[in-house]
Formats: sequence, C-alpha cells, structure tokens
Amino acid sequence: MSGAGSVLIAGASEVVTGDATLGRGDLGLIPDGAVVVEGDRIAWVGPASEAPEADRRVDVGGRTVIPGFVDSHSHLVFAGDRAREFTARMAGERYDGGGIGVSVAATRAASDDELRALVAGRIAEIRAGGTTTVEIKSGYGLSVADEERSLRIAREFTEETTFLGAHVVPQALLEERDAYLDLVTGPMLAACAPHARWIDVFCEPHSAHAFTEAESRRVLEAGRAAGLGLRVHGNQLGPGPGVRLAVELEAASVDHCTYLTDDDIDALAGAADTTVATLLPGVEFSTRSPYPDARRLLDAGVSLALASDCNPGTCYTSSMAFVIALAVREMGLTVAEALLAATAGSAMSLRRNDIGIISTGRRADLTVVDAPSHEHLAYRPGMALARVLDLIERAPSG
Ligand code: NIG
Ligand code: FE
Repeated sequence: MSGAGSVLIAGASEVVTGDATLGRGDLGLIPDGAVVVEGDRIAWVGPASEAPEADRRVDVGGRTVIPGFVDSHSHLVFAGDRAREFTARMAGERYDGGGIGVSVAATRAASDDELRALVAGRIAEIRAGGTTTVEIKSGYGLSVADEERSLRIAREFTEETTFLGAHVVPQALLEERDAYLDLVTGPMLAACAPHARWIDVFCEPHSAHAFTEAESRRVLEAGRAAGLGLRVHGNQLGPGPGVRLAVELEAASVDHCTYLTDDDIDALAGAADTTVATLLPGVEFSTRSPYPDARRLLDAGVSLALASDCNPGTCYTSSMAFVIALAVREMGLTVAEALLAATAGSAMSLRRNDIGIISTGRRADLTVVDAPSHEHLAYRPGMALARVLDLIERAPSG
C-alpha cells in the first residue's frame, strides 16, 4: 500500500469472503460485493450497494475477488534440474525420495546469490498465480551451513519458514543414521531455529532415505523444545505412522495423507481443532499416485488444507488454481470446498488468523480471478486466471 487513505475495491461480480456469516453458503459469497482496504488491512466488506466512501476506487471490471491463496507447503530453496526423473516416472519408475540427493548436491554447489535469485523467480511465479502467503522449507542443504543459509534466504521472502534438516539422511551418512540425527537435533537445529517458525520431518518407513516413527518423534520433540511449531510429511508412499504421530504431538499439520487407514481418519477427525490434514494433489499428479479421498476426510469432520508442495522432485508447480482443479476433478471436493481448503484451511494449518478470509481486520491479501465466478478456477484448468490484487501498482502516481 502506498500510504494515504482507504481504497474501495468495486466492480466485483462476486466476493468470496470465506466467512459464512458474511454471505451465502460456507463460502460467505457476496454477489456484486465490494471491499474497503485501509493500510494493509480490510476495513469493510459487503454488498457494493452498501459500500462506504473511500479515498480511492479500484474497479476490477466484473471479475471475482477471493482471499489470496495460502500455500502452506513448499520447498523453494533448491538449485539444479530433475526433469529427467519426472520423465522416467511417467515411463513407469516409482518415486522413493532418492532423487532428493540430486537437488542437495546442486543446492550445495550454488552461491547464496544464485539461490536467492532462484527463490525470487519462484516467488514471482507464485504471486502471478494468486498466492499471497507461502511457507518455505529447507531440506536441500542437509549440513549445518547449507540448512542455515537455506532458511536465511527463505526468511527474506516469508515469515513462514520451516526447518527440514530431517528431509532425508544424506548419502554420505547413510550408514550413520544416528550421527545424522544427533546433528539435526543438535547443532543444525541450533543454527536453524533462529530463522524458522516450524520444524518438519519426512516420516516415511516406506523410503530407505526418510525417517522412522522413532526418529521422527526425536526430531519433532527436539524442535518443540527449541520453540518451533510442528509439521509432518506423513503417509505419502504407503500407510504409516505419520498421521498418528502428528496428532499425538499436536502438530499444526500433517501433509500428503495419501495412504490413510480408518484409524488415521478417526484420529484426524478427533484432532480437527489442532491438526490439519494438508493434501497435495499436485504430488499425486506428478508421481502418478492414487489421490487421497478428500471427500471422505471432509465428511468425517477432518480439517483440510490444500497446498502445492512446489519442489523439484514430486511436484514442480506452485499453481494453487491447478491444485484446486485437481482436488475437484480427482478428490471429490466441490469448487467451494477446494477454495476454502486453499485459503482458510491452509491459513489454519499455519495457525494464522490474520489471513485466508476476507473480513474486517484481516490482512488485505486479495486475489482477483479473471472470471465471473470462482467456479472458473476448476472449470478452466491451466488458464492463468488468478493474480494477486496489487494495490501499489494501481495507485495513481504522485
Ligand atoms: O514433499 N516427500 C518429501 N519431500 C518432497 C519431495 C522432495 C523431492 O523429491 O525433492 C515432497 O514430496
Ligand atoms: Fe513436501
């Protein structure tokens, strides 16, 4: 925001608030809605016919206004290219986490400035796709210095940074897992915690590269003792302990949830106020895996989020519109449910009550969809419809 005064955002075919008390249905949809922004906050939202005066007016020309997407899971700090791994997978190879080592080698070889420029490019793509908040994990450094600088660089772009030293056991230490865990939970955690809000672990007994339940518990408990909030990569490659552990330790989020048992679903439903199940259907798409049954999770009362997992191995896209389209087409959600999961749901998974919903007092993180209704997000997959509403750009000069 450029400073002076309030801005009326007018000319919207609909405003999706995400707050059921403010409009129609769970979306809190206001046809012909308007929003007033003051500074970086929302000052008013309602029908355009009732909008108060403002100092300036921005007309969105019959488009749809939604809360900025919240992408609560990404791995943007990496160098190198793994397109060939994707091609091999499309030809039938299985994903087992082994390719992470390729990204680790390339990331370690990059200079700070190279890494920073790569992240900046990805952030530009993210904003161009309508996302206003993004969480960024480390995890392609796997040494004290490389994890620390990954998080230091990530912090230049977002407050939502996550220490993922326990992404995989680095190649050189494969025979010394305990030594690596001592490092992650000791000096690496100490160096990284000042730059991180969260700690995460790839809890996956189905991968020789990732971590067992006991190892994951150790990592999460150390992170919690260092003041970090907890997130878990769980149940990605097969049924496993990730969900159970996340719920037991009151993690904010357990992500992937591709393979769930009935007990996992019951546990998540019982923890709906604490632990969000974050689904990443771009990963199922890019690894040719079965999609989780989001419909069943929602019907069971589980709190759901959608995120991109943008990373060089299992999903190299940050398009939240694509994620929403997949959730609708492949996982049984309505467009409304998917949109809520990609905004309010992912805000909850980051334990944020200042984003994800358009209501008075929240951050003025607004996205415009170049369409007459939010349904076009899934109805027109692959089209670049969503973009962040940049009120600075639109300010008159002088
Ligand atoms: O979320 N599963 C672990 N980590 C990433 C993939 C990382 C990679 O293959 O580079 C994920 O899918
Ligand atoms: Fe991930």
